[in-house]
Amino acid sequence: MTSPPSFSGQDLPLHPSGSSRAGEGDESRLSRRGFLTLAASLGAGFTASAYGADTPGPSDAVKTTANTTYRTPQISGVVQRCPDLGIPIPTGPPPGVTFSRVPVTDQFVAMTFDDGPHPQNTPRLLDMLRERNIRATFYVIGRNVDLYPAVARRVVAEGHEIGNHSYTHRSLTTLGDAAMHDEIKKTQDAVLRATGVLPRTLRPPYGAFRQNQRQAIYTELGLPTILWSVDPLDWKRPGPAIVSQRILAGVTPGAIVLSHDLHSQTVDAMPATLDALMLKGYKFLSVSQLIAMKGGDSTQTTTVAAPAEH
Ligand code: NI
Repeated sequence: MTSPPSFSGQDLPLHPSGSSRAGEGDESRLSRRGFLTLAASLGAGFTASAYGADTPGPSDAVKTTANTTYRTPQISGVVQRCPDLGIPIPTGPPPGVTFSRVPVTDQFVAMTFDDGPHPQNTPRLLDMLRERNIRATFYVIGRNVDLYPAVARRVVAEGHEIGNHSYTHRSLTTLGDAAMHDEIKKTQDAVLRATGVLPRTLRPPYGAFRQNQRQAIYTELGLPTILWSVDPLDWKRPGPAIVSQRILAGVTPGAIVLSHDLHSQTVDAMPATLDALMLKGYKFLSVSQLIAMKGGDSTQTTTVAAPAEH
């Protein structure tokens, strides 16, 4: 027999003697019923055997009113949750200069969200991820971090990875070395200021970054360039169903999925997308976790024909 949970004093029902004050009988009767109901619902056998569910007890002489305020709690939230994987975010040097996916055999996927933090859409997405115990990577624009540092802080506080997406979202291939460095360094500084951590990876705006630039930033700042293997073109706002469909069609083990928490449609698409990926057996890693699964520099350096708005 299991013990019932502890009760507060006023819920403890069984007064040893009859009531001596007006109204006390009502309380006793009500409380006892509550106790019996709860105990019965817990499957505690003593309730029926000790008193019998319908057997009058010591204070049953007083009729009581029903508890009209109690409601059975609704089942809410999401049943499906990503299991805790016990994989720490790595601290060592990233194992390559460029990644667009990582050739793993297990069903791991990295969801990435660019161009935030956004004051409404990013928190909404964070709620969805938290409900599902999913870790993602946010490629933030440094200027937006300076505008919404609290959102950036929440990203990190909730266990997500934060990555560098330049300070002003200019195409880095159009900039000279000094200006290019400035875009990246200012974002490192903004993220550190807001969150206390430094980004470990870089996603260049529009995916545009020359090989010599990638190599220079990897050597000087330790930041690998992260592109993607799945692009739902969500920035064109085709509607949440299409965004979801494209992601689901594109994900394979080791995929890096590009999308944008800047756009509300993308965030709208996430519950169905994430749940469907979990049903397919996928587990979610941050980008650094995913690339750490492949040691050495055996990365795919796919040339990405970047559309206009990444
Ligand atoms: Ni972008």
